[in-house]
Parts: sequence; structure tokens; C-alpha cells
Amino acid sequence: MTKVSMDDIVSLCKRRGFIFQSSEIYGGINGFWDFGPMGVALKNNIKKFWWQSMVQFRDDVAGVDTSIIAHPTTWQASGHIDCFSDPMIDCKTCKGRFRADHLETSTCLNKPSQSPKTCGGELTEARAFNLMFKTFVGANQDSSSEAYLRPETCQSIFTQFKNVVTTSRHKVPFGIAQIGKSFRNEITPRNFIFRSREFEQMEMEFFVKPDPAIQEEWYQYWCQTRYQWYSALGIRADHLHKREHAKDELAHYAKGCTDVEYDFPFGCSELEGIANRGNYDLTQHMTFSKKDMNYFLQETGEKFVPAVIETSAGCDRTLLTVLCDAYHVDEVEGESRVVMRFAPHIAPISVAILPLSKKLAEPAQKLEKSLRTKFATDYDDSGSIGKRYRRQDEVGTPFCITYDFDSETDGHVTVRHRDTTQQERVSLDNIKSYLEERIEYKAI
Ligand code: GAP
Repeated sequence: MTKVSMDDIVSLCKRRGFIFQSSEIYGGINGFWDFGPMGVALKNNIKKFWWQSMVQFRDDVAGVDTSIIAHPTTWQASGHIDCFSDPMIDCKTCKGRFRADHLETSTCLNKPSQSPKTCGGELTEARAFNLMFKTFVGANQDSSSEAYLRPETCQSIFTQFKNVVTTSRHKVPFGIAQIGKSFRNEITPRNFIFRSREFEQMEMEFFVKPDPAIQEEWYQYWCQTRYQWYSALGIRADHLHKREHAKDELAHYAKGCTDVEYDFPFGCSELEGIANRGNYDLTQHMTFSKKDMNYFLQETGEKFVPAVIETSAGCDRTLLTVLCDAYHVDEVEGESRVVMRFAPHIAPISVAILPLSKKLAEPAQKLEKSLRTKFATDYDDSGSIGKRYRRQDEVGTPFCITYDFDSETDGHVTVRHRDTTQQERVSLDNIKSYLEERIEYKAI
């Protein structure tokens, strides 16, 4: 089993065009990342798979795409203006700024081998630092035009709850899902894309009747369903965990919360939270907006503010998980190779077409064009076939098709499997269905 380090992942991401430091030519900007050609393809596939699983393949979840900047009262109602802060400590000696609860694992700016706790620098008392990014809307830059970049995507799901209810035929219990950017001015962004200042969330709020037994049933259902989703993404079960929060970890209104966690190279950490939040969120927005958030259940004549089960996943953390889990080093014909064992349905490139000789460019390109409307393809004719296989292994392409001189006469191509490196001849007439069978995700 390959033991992967964060250095391995960062280096592969740069080398193969998955992830680059943002504004690298200007020295970078801490906590921001850019996704290259392989990274954006992988990320899009993860988001697509989440959307299919949470919206498309279900009949009880609707999707939305809301604005990043919302009315500032949204953040008063949600509690973010008053409470969304981390404890921050300054060091008067090295001028570093650290999260008080991360002191032990932080690095002194003057003595990088030591933490701010042990370096002997003079530390201030901890004080609250609000994590929301502030901006101004319109031409005036005063307190009346202040607004915030959203720190989570879910609040506009709550504020649009009534509009979705009245414009769709969904009835409680049902959910509203959204994928989108969130921003947090993290004091110490760290571990590559694990904790960044700009990231994407994949959130779903599932509205149910506020009844403890019904809430508990759906909460358990979503804990199970969300955990299984990571297996369907190809993540090894022995690296995935569910951790139920202790009572003293819960927000005062929450009835339960479970994290899905993954064994990253830097330790076991949260990927997603599933929470039974009661009807706190809708009630808060009802109070602040003075708009009725009650739901009328026609069958029974009951009127209530629905309770919510939330599933809140980080897209970038999922991407990092997929990268760490897929990274393997093995040996092929006496040579070491790095191979990314992505599940075929999320691999950035599904199939690469490699002509054995440049003389075969015309039919090989024709084949690639015929496959490209259905699959993510790559065409590579440079270097030896061995080198081309290695390049595809490093970006996790599950199938390479070699077009050779025999293909011209026997109508067959060689399909090489990434994980086993085994090869087989497949008829050109059947190649599409052969690949479809092996690449497309089959919903259970
Ligand atoms: N609406 C609930 C909510 O936002 P959260 O635990 O703060 O809950 C949910 O965030 C998920 O968003 C986390 O499990 C993580 O995957 C992702 N996330 C949060 N902060 C992040 C950051 N600074 N960088 C990358 N991902 C982050």
C-alpha cells in the first residue's frame, strides 16, 4: 500500500496541471488556489456526480444557484455577524497572527522549527476575529453599503425556501441543493486546498415536519446516504470514518451532528457535516425578515415551520480526498510509476488515443473525434508508447487505446487498462459500448 505525503500530492498537482498556487507569478496569495486543466475536469466530475446523486437521480430534491452576495441582514439572522469568528492571537515578537486553538501546530515566523507556544515570543490575549470577507455594494463606501461574501451557501437556500415551495411541486419532506463558492478569511489557511479562503461547498437542506422521530429518521438516512456517496466516489472504506459529535460540541439548537472524515496524510479530518438543525434557521429568517416561513401541509391541515437536516460537503476537500486516495506508486516492467487510481466515472480523462506511429494520425484522430462527444478524450502522439502510458497513468486515465498498423486491416484496437496494465484487442465497432460499460457510473 502506498503511503502518500502532502508533498507528493502538491508536486503531482503542479507537475500534471491539477492545482496551481493563485497568482504564482506575483509570489502567490495565501489561501487561494487555481485549478488547471486536469483539476477543473476532476472537480467538475465530482460536482456533476454530487448533483446527479443529490438532485437528478432523486425526486425529492430541487436545485438552486443563488448569489454570492446577499442582503446583509441574512448574516445577522444566521448569527454570522455576531458569532462567526475564530480566536486569534498575535505574536509581538515575530508579528505572526495565529489561531489560538491551532497554536501547537502553527509555525513561528522567526523560528520555523518551533511553534508560537514554544518559541518564547510575546503573545497577546486571544480575541475574536470574524471570518467573513467584507465588501461594499455600489458607489458609496460607507457602513450603509457594507456587504459580505457568503461564508456558506446554505443561507440563501433558507431565504428562498418559500419561493421554491410555491414554484415547484415539491412537498415536505423535500430538499433544496446548491453547489457554489464560499469565502472565509481563515486566519491560518493550511494543508494545501484543505483549508482555504475561497472554496466551493455542495450543500443540501432537507425540510421535514418538526417532529423528533421524523427528524431522527431522516438524519440517520442522510448520515448513511452521504457516507455511502464517498464509497461510490471510489474512496477506500478503511480511510473513511463517521464521527458523531458529543452533546457539548453541538450548537444550542442542533439535535445531532455527524462528520464524515478521511485519513489525510496530515491526519484524520472533516470532509462533510450532516446535522439535524431543528427549525432554527427558518425561524431566524422569519423573525428578521418578518415574512411567514410556515409550511401548510394540505393532507392534514397542519401548519408549521419545517425542521432541517443539512448535508454540507466541501468540494475542494472532496477533491483533495480523491487525490490522496487515488495516489499509488507501483512497479511496471521493473520501473516505478505513479498512478492515480481514480474511479473511471470521475477521471479527468476517460480515454486516451495513442497512435503507434505518426503515420496513423488520420485514422487515430478520426477515432478520437468519434469518441469525444461521449467521453473526455485525449490524443497523444509524442514520445515512446511507454512514456505516453506513464503520462496518462499520472493523470489517472483509466483506458488508453493504441491504434496500430493492424487496426487498419483487422478493425481492432488495443485497449490498455491503467490499474492492471493488461491489454486486450477490441473491435472498433464495439469500442463505444465497451467504454460506456466500464466508464459510466451505474446508479444503484
Ligand atoms: N452550512 C454548514 C457549514 O458551512 P462547515 O462545517 O463550516 O458547515 C461545511 O462547512 C464543509 O465546507 C466542511 O465540512 C468542509 O468540507 C468545507 N469547508 C469549510 N471551511 C472550509 C475551508 N476554509 N476550506 C475548504 N473547505 C472548507
